[in-house]
Amino acid sequence: MQSVVDYLEQNHDQFEQDLFEWLRMPSISADPEHAADVRAAAQWVFDKLTDAGLTTELIETQGHPIVYAETQPVPGKPTVLVYGHYDVQPPDPLQEWITPPFDPTVREGNVFARGATDDKGQLLTHIESVRTWLESVGSLPLQVKFLIEGEEEVGSQGLEAFVAAETERLACDVVVISDTSQFGPDRPAITYGLKGIAYFELRLQGPRQDLHSGTFGGAVSNPANALVKLMSLLIDDNGRVQIPGFYDDVLPLTEQERNQFATLQFDEAKFREQIGVNAVSGEIGYSTLERRWARPTFDINGLTSGYQGEGAKTVLPAKASAKFSFRLVPHQDPAKVREQLTSFLQEHCPTGISMKLIDMHGAPGFVIPLDSPFIEAAGESIAKGFGRRPCFIREGGSIPIVTTFRELLGVDTLLLGWGQNDDNMHSPNEKLSLRDFHRGIKSSAHLWDELARS
Ligand code: BES
Ligand code: MN
Ligand code: MN
Repeated sequence: MQSVVDYLEQNHDQFEQDLFEWLRMPSISADPEHAADVRAAAQWVFDKLTDAGLTTELIETQGHPIVYAETQPVPGKPTVLVYGHYDVQPPDPLQEWITPPFDPTVREGNVFARGATDDKGQLLTHIESVRTWLESVGSLPLQVKFLIEGEEEVGSQGLEAFVAAETERLACDVVVISDTSQFGPDRPAITYGLKGIAYFELRLQGPRQDLHSGTFGGAVSNPANALVKLMSLLIDDNGRVQIPGFYDDVLPLTEQERNQFATLQFDEAKFREQIGVNAVSGEIGYSTLERRWARPTFDINGLTSGYQGEGAKTVLPAKASAKFSFRLVPHQDPAKVREQLTSFLQEHCPTGISMKLIDMHGAPGFVIPLDSPFIEAAGESIAKGFGRRPCFIREGGSIPIVTTFRELLGVDTLLLGWGQNDDNMHSPNEKLSLRDFHRGIKSSAHLWDELARS
């Protein structure tokens, strides 16, 4: 390992230059105007992997391209599949960024840019560590395959089809993903569970067109009133979702897991301060960590209706719509939630309103067994990279493809996140600690060695 560690030290600045170059590319998958930038970011990582000596392919999809790369097979040793995404979320609202989102800037040891933590910075750690092995030792102690997509932030459709069609090429013993967070500063973690999701848009239509609210108010149902009523019926004051059957399949927290969460010393005051609220809230009977990591939730993601301009306008709007989602836990089924939700909304929809429920996307939640030799190896490599053993956490975000890997490739995933909860994923001023970026590269370099010996 000495030549590997030496190489890491000598290339410290080069790794950062690579990261900044990639972060300058506005690879916003949701925005068709940025399609060329998305492709440029795919080409950039394709070139990086090719230069490092991997066998590389750029694969076209209906949407943004997939980049696939692999090192030489090593007989008798496990094969690892590294997954990540080069696409990023839109940077809006732009005026809230201290420095522009695609002009990576270092402040107090963090690089600020869209994609810094989600996911270019985290993914790049594995690419740099593989290059390090190839250039210092000449080969890796096991085979590494990279599967890098450009549609994670918009539903991974192209990737799902690719995995289904290419199970042989993607065959592996374990998947590695760095697209989550540590428990806190200097508290590296292995994430053993993520939530699923069921995302919907509800469109309500009342009268044919907007009406005078004095002339017609009180005579017909107002779609905006109907929408807020329906949304408010979905959850009660105890934070319990009111759809019949919603909790039927929920995997309950075990006493052991609750005790383990409790030992993590979660600083609730700091958490409140971080997000600027004076109180936490949610489902009654569960701690904040339990609610964030292991209990299903309901959130409205967007609401639209009526007059939004300056001043007042007395109107009875013809339409109202909402985007909303449930974060699911194992073993809830997103399709079943959709059916239960549809009946619930139909039952409570006021007369004179027609409704359309659009199912935008869904994925189940999961937990990964902790008793595998790969977990042990990952823990060891993190201890070597960060100087501290990882704790075991769950998180509330979703990475739908993990379940697909389990189903189609028959393998589990190691979620080794180098980010922090306050890295502003999907928000203005996204960042990544450069120290953690380098510790991530070092952990990854050790990971190949540890997994090869597991
Ligand atoms: N990197 C995140 C997933 C994540 C976020 C994991 C926070 C752990 C903590 C990923 O890029 C993401 O944003 N996922 C989406 C998936 C959705 C669009 C299906 C999410 O969680 O909203
Ligand atoms: Mn991500
Ligand atoms: Mn994301």
